[in-house]
Amino acid sequence: MTEFHQNDVLVVGAGGAGLMAALYASKSTSTAVITKLYPTRSHTGTAQGGVGAALGNEGEDHPEWHTYDTVKGSDYLGDQDAIEFMCQEAVQTVYELEHMGLPFSRTPEGRIAQRPFGGHTNNVTGKPVPRACYAADRTGHMILQTLYQQCIKNNVTFYDEFEVLDLLIVNGAAAGVVALEILTGKMHVFHAKSVIFATGGHGRIWAITSNAYTYTGDGVAVALRRGIPAEDMEFFQFHPTGIYKMGILITEGVRGEGGVLLNDTGERFMERYAPTAKDLASRDVVSRAMYIEMQEGHGIGGKRYLYLDVTPDTVNKYAAEDGRTRQDGSPYVVTAEEILSKLPDIVDFARTYLGVDPVSEPMPVQPTAHYAMGGIPTDKLGQVVIDEHNTVMPGFYAAGEVACVSVHGANRLGTNSLLDIIIFGKYSGLQAAEYANGVDFQELPADADNFARQQLDAILNSTGNENAADIANEMKSVMFDQVGVFRTEDGMAQALEKVRELQERLKNVNSTDLGSTFNTELIDIWELGNLLDLAEVTAVSALARKESRGAHAREDYPKRDDANWMKHTLAWIKDGEVELSYKPVVITKYEPKERVY
Ligand code: FUM
Repeated sequence: MTEFHQNDVLVVGAGGAGLMAALYASKSTSTAVITKLYPTRSHTGTAQGGVGAALGNEGEDHPEWHTYDTVKGSDYLGDQDAIEFMCQEAVQTVYELEHMGLPFSRTPEGRIAQRPFGGHTNNVTGKPVPRACYAADRTGHMILQTLYQQCIKNNVTFYDEFEVLDLLIVNGAAAGVVALEILTGKMHVFHAKSVIFATGGHGRIWAITSNAYTYTGDGVAVALRRGIPAEDMEFFQFHPTGIYKMGILITEGVRGEGGVLLNDTGERFMERYAPTAKDLASRDVVSRAMYIEMQEGHGIGGKRYLYLDVTPDTVNKYAAEDGRTRQDGSPYVVTAEEILSKLPDIVDFARTYLGVDPVSEPMPVQPTAHYAMGGIPTDKLGQVVIDEHNTVMPGFYAAGEVACVSVHGANRLGTNSLLDIIIFGKYSGLQAAEYANGVDFQELPADADNFARQQLDAILNSTGNENAADIANEMKSVMFDQVGVFRTEDGMAQALEKVRELQERLKNVNSTDLGSTFNTELIDIWELGNLLDLAEVTAVSALARKESRGAHAREDYPKRDDANWMKHTLAWIKDGEVELSYKPVVITKYEPKERVY
């Protein structure tokens, strides 16, 4: 039997974006959150280094500089009206988090502490500015805890460990979702006037990733199945510093604190690739430089990794060479104690996973699949837009990594993801509540859960002998090798062919658990279908874009081509085929120019 629930606003996902949306929606509506994890286990909790806002607490800074850096970082593909909105709102929203009780690290004077991050610059000198507001290296964790407490205080209803399977649409408007209760295997229909997707990203497509196992692209896949497009899916960010072979994130905050990347000869190679920003160039630039170093045989011991060195001697040597000073003008000199207190989790991860003590030894790192710039298209208020003309779909909102506003364009700056979730989480919540307060519930069809049931039944009734883990591994490795940091026509075509073969093989999957209690095999297989759909859309969008821009670096089209490609990709799945269209980028103040760091 299906169980029914009714709320004005339903949020799917309980990471930072979902919780911020729920908090704001709950101020004027009955609001529920469904989440496949216990809320404080959401992937936001892995975000380490900081949230970007031009507070100017540790050096001159301005929202205008933040705006320009974000536009430049996006390789001019970000929509400038939305970027300006985000960077202007950043300052007051960070103070709002502080007032909610978020335990930020502090300057000696008691202000919110800030550290430099990649691509965030003083727009006059081009040198890094401290813009990342941080809570040691646990900023995302603190955001989650703070927002969850606020939601509980505000009487938000939580349905923990519910997997969203379908979006209900009535008369062209969102009307709720269908979800599986993981504990019981029971189907639930959540009837709502407004639905906000905050389901996160899809980094589990790639073999080496910083993303949680739960980052399987559910929101985008569900929307695609209901005829809603996905925007700019060819742009997926590789963070320069994942733990070698494991991909676990080593925050850019390490380089913000003065850590440097070294190759096999001990050279700080970023000086050659980005003479001003060096190790704190934007992520696409640093990841590509690392690949080139490794391809040229400068990986450590000739292997596919480099060193990230944050030992005090190294930090102090390069800080002196760079002329780096503290805010009071004194030379920037760090001690082992300072590294330990500012980067406690990183020290712990390196000791645990690598057997390396970062206070006295360098850490082996490699670029790791980290962040989806693409996703469900929205405007800057979180309203989902469904075509080239930005037509708003009534009652449907998206925020956080699942959404493409687009503020990150072709490459996101570090710290702008935590900023994105708090700003667009907040505005999608406000907007969804305003809409819900002005409309009646749509009437749901009696068979609202049919499409969701069919998808699960197809898996449970499959009599084939294909192994889901094999299919997942083949997808991950071909996507990592061929649709990763560097790409070519042949490589991507090969990947696409493989993904399509794997989609067929998944139809013959061998599902062994036919039970209903915590059937995680069923969920894993359904999620693998989502990943494969998004891998296909990514490869098709990437093959079509015949230029290099941001995270989409083609060896066969090495230049950015503004004449033909200053446009966003929209991808639909229609009758099993991916269809593409394009819409213009919003340019307000900053005409595209060559990026130099
Ligand atoms: O490096 C980091 O701490 C990651 C931050 C981000 O992706 O914004």
